[in-house]
Amino acid sequence: MTITIQKSLEIENLSVVLGHRLILDKVSLSLPHPVFAAIMGPNGAGKTTLLKTILGTIRPISGKVYLFGKEVLNNPSEARKFVGYVPQRDKIVRYVPLKVIDVVLMGLVSRKEIPRIVTSNDVRLSLEALEYVGMSNYASELFSNLSGGQQQRVLIARALVSKPKILLLDEPFNAVDANAQTFIAELLNKLKTESNVSILLVSHDINTVVEYIDILMFLNKKIIAVGKPHEIFRDDILRLVYGKGVRVITEKGRCYALTGDTHG
Ligand SMILES: Nc1ncnc2c1ncn2[C@@H]1O[C@H](COP(=O)(O)OP(=O)(O)O)[C@@H](O)[C@H]1O
Ligand SMILES: [Mg+2]
Repeated sequence: MTITIQKSLEIENLSVVLGHRLILDKVSLSLPHPVFAAIMGPNGAGKTTLLKTILGTIRPISGKVYLFGKEVLNNPSEARKFVGYVPQRDKIVRYVPLKVIDVVLMGLVSRKEIPRIVTSNDVRLSLEALEYVGMSNYASELFSNLSGGQQQRVLIARALVSKPKILLLDEPFNAVDANAQTFIAELLNKLKTESNVSILLVSHDINTVVEYIDILMFLNKKIIAVGKPHEIFRDDILRLVYGKGVRVITEKGRCYALTGDTHG
């Protein structure tokens, strides 16, 4: 008898070229399900590009991506059913006068065929998603009036409303205050442990989530190291990822990689 372990994400030899430059070089990784995985790397390492390639919005020059066994590039809409995506918050338009509930509804409506009609069930699901991230009291507020951490929680609700099996998050802790970072970290861990949702986040700073991470990968165009955080948070590996300028401070089981890079 063979026991097959379900894989949430498999990437084989993925290479991406943008503007004639090789941005990702033969990236391979394989994640079980459910998993809490994080990818760290300096600014320009290709983290956002990797997420967009997993989503099927950037086409690689070679390689394959599978989500729950479905090949993404040839079946983007099939594979996307499994995925919730939380884009980098500073890359989205924040001044659009949308109410919080409408932002969450977009997570359902954008997946519908035209005409995209909002049903009362969509509203109910969106309110449930807001409840889950502790933001249901803000449903009628303007999204642009919220703090960074509150906006991030709403964007997570928007990604969760379609009930994904894996959640991809791009720099979820950027411009989010410490309390909200802790809240989000615990929320992501709860999603994995209680709701069987796999988490893959990319960030230049993972200290808030380090205790929850099953698999950490360092990326800088290539995958430089894969392992548990305490296994790969090593001076020699960090120098490979970030260059000579990095200093590592370990304190109370946490690792702080100090670099010149502040915004990933
Ligand atoms: N559309 C594009 N055309 C050309 N180069 C791009 C494009 N998007 C990103 N890049 C380049 O790809 C590299 C990786 O970018 P990105 O994936 O955003 O890195 P990260 O998210 O790790 O900071 C950067 O050097 C960036 O300038
Ligand atoms: Mg990025």
